[in-house]
Amino acid sequence: MKKVSVCFTLNGDSVTAEVPVTWSLLKTLREYFELTGAKEGCGVGECGCCTVIVDGDAVNSCLYPIPEIEGRSVVTVEGIAGKEGTLHPLQKAFLENNAVQCGFCTSGMIMSAKALLDKNPDPAEEDIRTSLSGNFCRCTGYVQIIEAVRRVAKGNT
Ligand code: FES
Ligand code: FES
Repeated sequence: MKKVSVCFTLNGDSVTAEVPVTWSLLKTLREYFELTGAKEGCGVGECGCCTVIVDGDAVNSCLYPIPEIEGRSVVTVEGIAGKEGTLHPLQKAFLENNAVQCGFCTSGMIMSAKALLDKNPDPAEEDIRTSLSGNFCRCTGYVQIIEAVRRVAKGNT
């Protein structure tokens, strides 16, 4: 299969990947870079389990064609903890607020929430709900997730 070589920034590092031209960003992250935090749930842009941040926006990486990542900046859930392993405030709040059960949706939820808080550190609850509306959770019922994001927004972590 024809391959493409792409150069981009991944969690702060300049990287190059040579992968089949038909691959998505999600497949490249998981199979080329072995970053498996972003999950494949539906594979068609409906569940949000694959959410990562590209140039500041939350995107469904399963739908993102790898040739389009050239020159962009990608942040995955693996890139948000401190270098020494300190959890990001959202990761900490999800854990402490019981917002994680099976965990399959969690990295996508956290990346959608991070994209929101990076742009708006003090969002209304409605803004949080809107930002997470593309992320499905089959376990928690969403209440603890919304509360976890609100805790971070209020600085109560
Ligand atoms: S796997 Fe990408 S939206 Fe479901
Ligand atoms: S914690 Fe299981 S899908 Fe959300």
